[in-house]
Amino acid sequence: MNSIEGFAQVGTDAALSAGKLLMDRLRTDFRISHKGATNLVTEVDVASERLIVSRILESFPNHVILAEENYSAAKRGEYTWIIDPIDGTTNYAHGYPVFAVSIGLEIRGELEWGIVYDPNLKEIFTASRGGGAFCNGTQLRVSRTDDLGLSLLATGFPYDIRTSMANLDHFVSFMLRSQAVRRAGSAAIDLCYVAAGRFDGFWEVELHPWDCAAGFLIVREAGGRVTDFSGAPGSIYCPYVVASNGLIHDKILEVLREGSSPAKH
Ligand code: IPD
Ligand code: CA
Ligand code: CA
Repeated sequence: MNSIEGFAQVGTDAALSAGKLLMDRLRTDFRISHKGATNLVTEVDVASERLIVSRILESFPNHVILAEENYSAAKRGEYTWIIDPIDGTTNYAHGYPVFAVSIGLEIRGELEWGIVYDPNLKEIFTASRGGGAFCNGTQLRVSRTDDLGLSLLATGFPYDIRTSMANLDHFVSFMLRSQAVRRAGSAAIDLCYVAAGRFDGFWEVELHPWDCAAGFLIVREAGGRVTDFSGAPGSIYCPYVVASNGLIHDKILEVLREGSSPAKH
């Protein structure tokens, strides 16, 4: 059990079970609370997290859990599971079918395995370090687009946008320079779509480790590049994220540098 295969089996089982829970409760009468003016949490987020955490701790009681709802302040351990029980909560709360379960496993500070499960399209994105990235068993490869003007990009906006206005400047810049920019509301799915070549690039300004843990590994293992806004290798603990097919990466960084949104990293 103490191998990547064993971890993957438990993690996959947890993600698929959580995905089923999400679909069973979608568009039902679940409770919704506000963490902030536009930042929601539903009782399904909490139930999904509880399910995933209990599956993992049943098999690996000594592992650390870092998860969005009830384990967000955890200190990393030797084995740390990084969990977003619903990535795309706003969509979920509105019945808009773009959301996913994301689980990544860090071992001694290195991302080793990850899964993003989109239960609407029944797409299971997985990767292990050095082992490639896959969607339902098919190996993933980033796109070959090398022209920003022909690129389909994705982004998202932080929950404090009403006061910070963060990322609106970059959004305008890229709308004017790319083929189009999508904002579907799940960073984990956006990252997987970069890996799958459906998007050529992605950026965001305020992500958390649970948004990125699985997605970063999936992009890298599909041959993509992940950095912060300065071009330094991406860390899931840095909120400023650029992920791309590699070919348009420097161009994206250049455009980001022209913006006025805070880019401390
Ligand atoms: C959010 C989504 C969204 C992104 C936000 C995230 P949540 O996660 O990934 O696409 O724009 O920055 O916080 O709150 O739905 O888990
Ligand atoms: Ca999230
Ligand atoms: Ca979430």
